[in-house]
Amino acid sequence: MNKSEFLVNLENVENLPTLPAVVRQLQTLMASPLSSMAQIAAVITRDQAIAARTIRLINSAFYGMGGRVTSIQHAIVLLGLNTVKNLVTGVSVLKIFNQPPAASLFDREKFWLHTFACALGARAIGREINAPEPEDFFLAGLLHDIGILILDQFFHEEFIEILQRSACDGTGYIHAEKAVLGLTHEDVGEFVARKWKIPELLMLSIRYHHNPSEADNLCAGSVPILSAVHIADVTANNRGLDMGHPVGEKTCDAAAMRTVRMTERRIEELFDGIVKEVKAVAAEWGV
Ligand SMILES: [Fe+2]
Ligand SMILES: [Fe+2]
Repeated sequence: MNKSEFLVNLENVENLPTLPAVVRQLQTLMASPLSSMAQIAAVITRDQAIAARTIRLINSAFYGMGGRVTSIQHAIVLLGLNTVKNLVTGVSVLKIFNQPPAASLFDREKFWLHTFACALGARAIGREINAPEPEDFFLAGLLHDIGILILDQFFHEEFIEILQRSACDGTGYIHAEKAVLGLTHEDVGEFVARKWKIPELLMLSIRYHHNPSEADNLCAGSVPILSAVHIADVTANNRGLDMGHPVGEKTCDAAAMRTVRMTERRIEELFDGIVKEVKAVAAEWGV
């Protein structure tokens, strides 16, 4: 299959998941300067399952609110609009994909642990470099490999062939994706991100997490976030928090390291903490 043939197949997947209405409405409301906090809280509260899960998460050890938060409005006051929006988006994406998988070569539990390690790692880097919204880094880490979930769910036979090839021929997972599909999970993730109209910054970190330097000329503002996701991805893999199949490079892109201006040692230190907390955080998110 070549890239354009695969993209046509992807376009024709009828039951490709859509983001819940609450996320779309939230994106629209937050894009308008006229929206009030009460309106935004009302939209989230309308989806009771997502609102309840978001409040539970905020009260978990993850955000440390210890049961004090009783409503979305209250959560917005305490954590800020952007954090709550990101939580709602993360909860919604997990809800779409977190179904019990069919017996498969692919271990979804490992996948989620990898994903949460990247989310925590990217956020820790975001905090370290004083990024204005480190929670955006968390969400970018959480979504970075979403293309792999789409492949597992909707192109399962091809996906298994990719896993088998990458296990056998030693050239690596991404090489196998290109051989079988003509493109990679970054392309697939970008496709879904565009369909979902998720913010450009997140879309770019899905698109370029294996090659952050390629995005340099496209959108300079996105470089810190996608550098952080890339570094977190490589480090998580190297620390054994991979998805059961080695995906991507073993060393961090030099330009990404220059962007975050952190030493390898400092990144390893951050990951010492992440390795210990990742299981608990994933469990709090319902994985
Ligand atoms: Fe990836
Ligand atoms: Fe990854």
